[in-house]
Amino acid sequence: MSDSNAVPVAVTEIQQWADTLFSFKIERPNGFKFTAGQFVRLGLKPTDITALQSDDDETIFRAYSVVSSPYDEFVEFFSVVIPDGAFTSKLKFLQVGDKLHLNTTPFGYLTLTRYQKPLPKDLWLLATGTGLAPFLSILKTLEVWQNYQQIYLVYSTRTKQELAYVDKINQLKSIYGEDGADFSFVPIVTRDKDFDGLTDRLPKLIANGELEHFVKAKFDVNTSQIMLCGNPQMVEDTKEALKQRGLTMNRRGEGNIAVENYW
Ligand SMILES: Cc1cc2nc3c(=O)[nH]c(=O)nc-3n(C[C@H](O)[C@H](O)[C@H](O)COP(=O)(O)OP(=O)(O)OC[C@H]3O[C@@H](n4cnc5c(N)ncnc54)[C@H](O)[C@@H]3O)c2cc1C
Ligand SMILES: NC(=O)c1ccc[n+]([C@@H]2O[C@H](COP(=O)([O-])OP(=O)(O)OC[C@H]3O[C@@H](n4cnc5c(N)ncnc54)[C@H](OP(=O)(O)O)[C@@H]3O)[C@@H](O)[C@H]2O)c1
Repeated sequence: MSDSNAVPVAVTEIQQWADTLFSFKIERPNGFKFTAGQFVRLGLKPTDITALQSDDDETIFRAYSVVSSPYDEFVEFFSVVIPDGAFTSKLKFLQVGDKLHLNTTPFGYLTLTRYQKPLPKDLWLLATGTGLAPFLSILKTLEVWQNYQQIYLVYSTRTKQELAYVDKINQLKSIYGEDGADFSFVPIVTRDKDFDGLTDRLPKLIANGELEHFVKAKFDVNTSQIMLCGNPQMVEDTKEALKQRGLTMNRRGEGNIAVENYW
């Protein structure tokens, strides 16, 4: 992938969610277009990060899903911090006013356009960690609320503190889909003993029927579209659990399951 068309972009806002999780917004370059669910490549040049005080001017690029809506005037991202990660161990020093580099070619097929019409009626968006990002962008379009009858957003983190964006998730339907699809948000927290909700991993919750019981709905091979994003092992194990239920991978428009692995 060539990053030669990357343009410098200013960071306009930063929000910290937990020690190793934060979001940031950049200005949207003129003419930059993407489809909700896609990712871009972001470049970081250490000399552009004021608080790093580095002499290293080699730009490192990483894939990042867009969180914001295709209609927004800014572009938003949601990032983990990996203590020894080449990109995020530096990105964590980002401040408003610093510069990043945006490769303005959007990539990826975790978009609703991949499914053939007529559209099935229920959409299941299953994420771990920052894998939430593309689903937020999808849920910030009017089309998704008009095209489905039920939408389920399932979001698994290790701790309660790492459940980011919860207030914004709870406002999505009133902002984008007031007269549209019914919406269920299902947070899962796997390592906090006192969490008042689902606490097992997704594949187990699917295999034992607990997820369906929780939302009072069933996966249906004829009507369900299911997207998985985040931890590759979660993607693999969840895919297997869904296949056991007769659901199939989406290829050339046909089939239920679409996936994106973050590493
Ligand atoms: C299509 C795609 C979209 C992506 N979108 C995002 C995004 O929106 N937000 C985001 O934070 N990352 C995203 N990533 C991951 C991102 O590209 C980098 O891997 C991440 O920023 C860490 O970079 P690094 O150089 O610090 O560590 P790397 O050397 O890239 O990764 C080191 C290790 O950190 C772990 N890791 C990497 N990314 C994550 C993550 N997101 N959550 C938990 N553990 C992780 C893995 O164990 C990985 O082997 C995406 C990756 C792909 C392929
Ligand atoms: N989260 C932290 O406390 C923390 C702190 C410091 C650094 N980090 C860095 O961040 C990285 C991990 O980030 P993260 O917590 O966002 O990602 P993660 O390890 O993918 O965990 C996110 C969620 O995915 C679940 N999960 C993991 N594997 C699964 C599988 N096979 N099937 C179903 N669900 C699965 C986890 O459940 P389980 O809890 O059951 O695994 C958790 O609920 C680490 O590599 C580390 O470097 C994280």
